[in-house]
Amino acid sequence: MRRLAMIVSYGVACAALLLLGVPFPREMFMLFVAWTGTALLYHMMLRRTRTRTAANRIQLFASCADVSLLTGMFALIGGAWWVGAMVHGFILTFAFSSLPRRLALVVAGYAIAGFFIMIAAQTFRAPGPAFLGVPSLGGNYQLATMVALLGGIALIGLAIVQSAFVQIMRRAQERYRGLLEIVPDVIVSTNLRGIVTAANAAAMRLAGPRADDVVGQPLGELMAGDEQAIGRAHFRAARKGATRQFVIKVNGPDGTPRWLDCTCKGVLEGREIAGVLFVGRDITREKEDEEALRRTEEQLIQAQKMEAVGQLAGGLAHDFNNLVSVITGYCGFLRKDLAGDDARMADIREIQSAAESAASLTRQLLAFSRKQVLQPKIVNLNDSVVQLEHMLRRLIGAQIEIKTRLAADLQLVKADPNQLDQVLMNLAVNARDAMPHGGVLELETENVTLGAEYARTHPGVRAGQHVQLSIRDNGTGMDPETQARIFEPFFSTKPPGMGTGLGLSTVYGIVRQSGGYIWVYSEPGLGSVFKIYFPVTEESLDGPVDAAPPDELLQGSETVLVVDDSESLRPVVKRILRQYGYSVVEAASGEDAKSVVEDHPGPIHLLLADIVMPGMSGPELARDLARRHPDMRVLFMSGYAENAIVREGLRHPSAGFVEKPFSPETLAREVRRALDAGCAQGTVANTGELSFPARSTAVTQISDGRASPASVVQRKD
Ligand SMILES: Nc1ncnc2c1ncn2[C@@H]1O[C@H](COP(=O)(O)OP(=O)(O)OP(=O)(O)O)[C@@H](O)[C@H]1O
Ligand SMILES: [Mg+2]
Repeated sequence: MRRLAMIVSYGVACAALLLLGVPFPREMFMLFVAWTGTALLYHMMLRRTRTRTAANRIQLFASCADVSLLTGMFALIGGAWWVGAMVHGFILTFAFSSLPRRLALVVAGYAIAGFFIMIAAQTFRAPGPAFLGVPSLGGNYQLATMVALLGGIALIGLAIVQSAFVQIMRRAQERYRGLLEIVPDVIVSTNLRGIVTAANAAAMRLAGPRADDVVGQPLGELMAGDEQAIGRAHFRAARKGATRQFVIKVNGPDGTPRWLDCTCKGVLEGREIAGVLFVGRDITREKEDEEALRRTEEQLIQAQKMEAVGQLAGGLAHDFNNLVSVITGYCGFLRKDLAGDDARMADIREIQSAAESAASLTRQLLAFSRKQVLQPKIVNLNDSVVQLEHMLRRLIGAQIEIKTRLAADLQLVKADPNQLDQVLMNLAVNARDAMPHGGVLELETENVTLGAEYARTHPGVRAGQHVQLSIRDNGTGMDPETQARIFEPFFSTKPPGMGTGLGLSTVYGIVRQSGGYIWVYSEPGLGSVFKIYFPVTEESLDGPVDAAPPDELLQGSETVLVVDDSESLRPVVKRILRQYGYSVVEAASGEDAKSVVEDHPGPIHLLLADIVMPGMSGPELARDLARRHPDMRVLFMSGYAENAIVREGLRHPSAGFVEKPFSPETLAREVRRALDAGCAQGTVANTGELSFPARSTAVTQISDGRASPASVVQRKD
């Protein structure tokens, strides 16, 4: 606008000079036209500039052009050098007001130099450019003086007003800029094509290393790829005059996504919208908290579901394991009675195998509902992997290659080794199923430290040192929908008969019950990796496991009191023990047991009691009897760790434990072990936990090539 005003005023001045009959040479007219053209071009270019730096360059160029052309014009008029001096002053004011200081100094320097050259040329009549020799005002110094005086006064007045105005504007601008810089919200303005024309400090911080390029870039480039369409839609609406509020994902300084709660609005210049203003508040933290809450809620629902199934499974398991023990017991009796070549032996084996499968199913139900009886030991996960590797190779077939990468200085963890085997097998079988045409299964162990930030974003995780076990395959992978459900009991994508959907829920249950965490990362077509973290334990490795007594040493002649409320199991237990030479007395409840003990004429060497019974529980009975019969050994039986009673039973001083369902041999072995352990048996550590090595017989059955953990009978004595 100011430039246009200058053009107009120069036009008027030239017209006046013409009217006054002042000689107006053709060259001067040409120069004036050239200067006007430059000024107009410059004006148009400034309107189209994308950045401030480009605008500065144009302005610098235009100011230089102005000064050159005007210098030429004064030379043409000739003589009135001080008129030129005033006009230069005026131009310099413009230059200072509209250019950054450094550029303005360049323009000023150039203008002053140009002007002095012109004066020197006039004074010494030095040979110069052709136009220096053209006629001057022809000696009409009076008229020149008048014009110069009037023009000079007007120009100086204008310059003073303008510089005051510029000062006011500059101060206001600085105040605004200061405000914008301290606002924590991101503020960005764009032109109508979405090119950023200004951005505050918060926006620069968000852009990080790209901060220098923010101004002049399309705003869409700052948004995350999949969000650009949303951003564009809101930008278009704002350009048409609407005010929009929306949440959008942008790329943060380190490339991680950040969330902004944005408002965008058109910016008016006069009556027209000349650009769009975006104001955005960083709500990433709120978003993450929201997400963590959602995940926690989902996990809570999942946990409640598990709890419900667990309740059901626990209730079932109690009776079911008794029944399986009865079936297994009678199978054992039949096997003993029949000759080795009897055709019915095959039938017995089938019954036995079916019973084991049934037991394994209950075990899985208990495992994922975290109600199985865990017998944790201090273990090195490397040992578990190495010991199982051979079996895994057989299990998954030759077309899948197994690679192991085991950390050399792996820390120790506390977990049930047999359950760890089960975890590894279930994951390996899943990996095998995901790689029907072969592939690579990688097992890796590593010491890791989970940081506070990781713990915050992964509900349930505690920060600290962990051992990580990764099981990676390059199979089919999973889509996000499948991933969201894999730990649910009975969720399977496999055809009926191929998968029960209990594998991963069992793994989940075992890991969680052992104080660990499991996470899965998977991409369809690329494969999956399951990462399990167990907290590191400070305890040291358990000593070597005692060898189980050989079968011929299982016989005994002591008296055993069998207490179980199951009418079908009691006779089986009685018969098993009698077969091994023991005298047996029995009771159907805790109260009965007390009177049996009182009435029994001879000593009772061992109390073999179910943990969970109506009325008095096994541990309560044991405590009661211990007062009057401190020498009586105790062996508990149970099929699941439903509640505190079982855990209490497992912590009972000097008590052994046999898990239901059991085979006759297992029962006989545990009874013998409990009796032989004598006074050295079971010491209670200060922590109240049993501290002697767990001994176990773990039988893992592999049927039809698929892993199915069969009867795993373990004990601690
Ligand atoms: N490594 C893997 N790659 C691809 N998909 C997998 C992988 N592991 C598990 N899944 C998916 O998770 C589902 C649930 O697995 P889970 O082990 O619980 O049950 P399942 O394997 O189907 O049956 P089961 O283990 O009882 O025989 C699978 O059906 C499969 O869709
Ligand atoms: Mg499975």
